Formats: sequence, structure tokens, C-alpha cells
Amino acid sequence: MTTIQEAVTAAERCTPEFRRDPHPVYAHLRAAAPVCPMTPPHGNETYLITRYEDARAALSDPRLSKDMYGAMDAYRRIFGDSSVALDDNMLNSDGPKHTRLRRLVSSAFTPRRVQALRPRIEETVRGLLDACPAREPVDLLPAFAFPLPIIVICDLLGVPAEDRSQLQRLSTTVARTGFGEEFKRAQQKAEEELHAFFTQLITAKREQPGDDLLSALIAARGGEDGALTQSELVSMAFLLMFAGHKTTAYLIGNAVYHLLSQPQQLRAVRDDPELIHAAVEELVRFDGSVESATFRYATEDVEYGGTLIPKGALVQIALSSANRDSRKFDAPDELDVRRPGNAQDAHLGFGHGSHYCLGAPLARLETQLALTLLFDRFPRMALADPAGGPRWLEVPFPAFRGLAELPVVLDPAG
Ligand code: HEM
Repeated sequence: MTTIQEAVTAAERCTPEFRRDPHPVYAHLRAAAPVCPMTPPHGNETYLITRYEDARAALSDPRLSKDMYGAMDAYRRIFGDSSVALDDNMLNSDGPKHTRLRRLVSSAFTPRRVQALRPRIEETVRGLLDACPAREPVDLLPAFAFPLPIIVICDLLGVPAEDRSQLQRLSTTVARTGFGEEFKRAQQKAEEELHAFFTQLITAKREQPGDDLLSALIAARGGEDGALTQSELVSMAFLLMFAGHKTTAYLIGNAVYHLLSQPQQLRAVRDDPELIHAAVEELVRFDGSVESATFRYATEDVEYGGTLIPKGALVQIALSSANRDSRKFDAPDELDVRRPGNAQDAHLGFGHGSHYCLGAPLARLETQLALTLLFDRFPRMALADPAGGPRWLEVPFPAFRGLAELPVVLDPAG
């Protein structure tokens, strides 16, 4: 990487080199163009924020709106004009509407409900590991990292087991990032099917409530917050599934890959099981699964780091870059599970401010249990092809950071 223009082009076009390792590009941008104007393939003027302090401030800046209906033209051009409303949700709203939705969901999605999932998560992890071949290469993403969160979310929401694979298929289509008409049509169809699916499920839960989050959300009442409308319930169910699936799956994949690649780090966690909490925070900081926060747009002219972001422009906040900023973290390119002061809110891997990840406690619990039980069960586990290097996802837009595959041998013959 030589010039700043090359760095901007790499980030803007999401080049294969940038996908393989975005960090040198981000380092370049942090140094030379920390608030960087660019025009990605979706065609909207976008400002990329890469430094920690700017990113943290931008994540909670009320002048940077999350209500994408306000930026409707840009929004339509990127995501298409869906005929169904799956985005009547927290992540797409500001101010009082956001506060009301977040309060209602938080009254039902409590820490107790998350902790109550622990035995079921453990059982699911063990079941998935039982089903993996131990002595031959297995791709841990489809065999383990992807099914775990979708099973957990389905349990949480009260989705019947027989509907899981349909939900997984639809969620995968909706979560793909891309541009172009054909892509948008496929996504729209999947959104319509998801909308119909959740509408039916909510009707069934209204008639026969269960001990699940969706039933609790239907019943949730909050004084002047009222109750969630049908449209809000459908969007909320969709958001929880969408936000909680690939994010957690890719994090588990990234974490396993880095721990296997750096055995001294893995050994530290194995020698001191309590370290798993700090280790997961460090793994989120070092190579978390959400590379960029969701778009914001400027509702007025805003200045960041001496750069004017004009009213109406989109803002892309590179969390992965902020988490490697040496102004905030010592030796940021080193994975150090014993990193001092790496508290839960030091890194920005789960966002910051009012949109801070609602599912972070669940994501942490799932990842901690997945890693602990995996390495307890298969202490000799190894990458199937360590010399081959990892194959990272190639996506047209850096939303997720994850592996395309993770071939391992769980129990290489000793
Ligand atoms: C490792 C896994 C996860 C990561 C890295 C992650 C990351 C994030 C980030 C960065 C945001 C803020 C986005 C922004 O401000 O633009 C966010 C928001 C959110 N996340 Fe997560 N997430 C994870 C897992 C989950 C899970 C398991 C759930 C739910 C079951 C969930 C539900 C949500 C929701 C509902 C929001 C929106 C909150 C709001 O707008 O107030 N996430 N997440």
C-alpha cells in the first residue's frame, strides 16, 4: 500500500486484498485521512470514519441519524424499495421512538432470560460437536459456528425446531451484502417470506403464548410506551434474528481461527478458564465480526476531525479500524488475551451509545461457551491446512468480517 488514493480505492471498492487484510488500509487511513470521503459502488457520497475517538463520538452523535427513512433516496438505492416493513425497528430509528422500542424489548429480553439459556446453549454446543467427524477435516463454520446461534435465537424467540432451516435459509439471503437488480429481487423475496413467517408465528403466539421472548414481547406493556404494534413485533423478531445470527457465527469462527493460529494465547485461556471473559473481549477487539456499524446519515453539516461531512451524506464507521487504533490501544495489532484494561466497553466491537448491541450479553455467553466447550472437548484440535492461510469472505461492502471457511481437524491422531 503506497498512496492514500490506493487506500481509499481499496476501502471503497472492497478489493480482494482489502478483504484478505483490511488493517493496513485502515492504518493508512487513520494516519492520513481519518474522515475520508468516498463513493462506493452504491453511488452515495459516504464518509468513512476510522479513528477510535471519532468513531466513538459518531456512534452516539444525534446529528448522525439512524432513521434511514429520512435518507430515503440513498436508502432505496442501496437496499431497494421493499414492499414489506421489516425495518420498523430500533436500529432504524432515533430519539423517542428508539427509546420506546428499546425499553419495551429490554423489559422482556432481560439478563435473567439470557442466563436461563445457558444449559440449552451448552447442550446445543455438545450436540453439534458430537455430530462432527473428529479425525478428518471438517469445516467448522457450517458444522458448528453457524447452526449454534440460529438454534439459540430460534429457542429464544420460540420458533419451532422444524422451521429453523427455512429461517436460516431466508436469513442468509437477507444478510448477504451486494448491489444490483437481481440481488435486490432475491433479497426482497426473502424479506417477504420472512415477513409472512413472523406474522404467522406472532398470530400463533397471541393465541397460545409460550415461555419465549416473542410471547413476552407480545405481552410487554410500558405505561406511556404502550405495547409493540404488529408491525413493530414483526420487525423486532426479524431484527433479533438478523442481528444475532451471522454476527455471532463469524465471531466464533474468527476467534477459533486466531486462537489456533496463536497457540500461546490459546494455552493462556486453557490454563486459566476464568480468562475466557477477557479473551472474548480481546477477540472482539482484535477481529470482531462487525467490521462497520450500520449506516448513519448527516441531518446537518457536521465536522469530524477537521473534515466537513455535508448534510445528507452517509457515514460509515469502521469499528474494526477503531479497535486497532494505537491512540487507544497499545500494540493494537497484537492479540493479547491478558491485555490490561480491556473492559467490555473499551472496544467498539458491539458499538457504543444508544444503539449499543442489545444482544451483547447473549453473544458473549454463546461465544464463551462455544470456545470453552470446543477446546475442552478437542484440546489437540488444529487447522487442517495451516500453511494455506485463511480464506476471508469476499463481500462488496465491509459489513461483516468473517471467514469463508474454517477447515480444522478436531482430534488429529496423536
Ligand atoms: C458477536 C456477536 C455480535 C456483534 C459483534 C454485534 C454487534 C453489534 C453492533 C456493532 C451493533 C450496533 C450497530 C450500530 O450502531 O450501527 C449492534 C446492535 C444490535 N445488536 Fe448486536 N451484535 C452481536 C450479536 C447480537 C445478538 C446475539 C443479538 C440478539 C439476539 C443482537 C442484537 C442487536 C440489536 C437488536 C441491535 C440494535 C440495538 C439498537 O438499535 O438499539 N446482536 N450489534
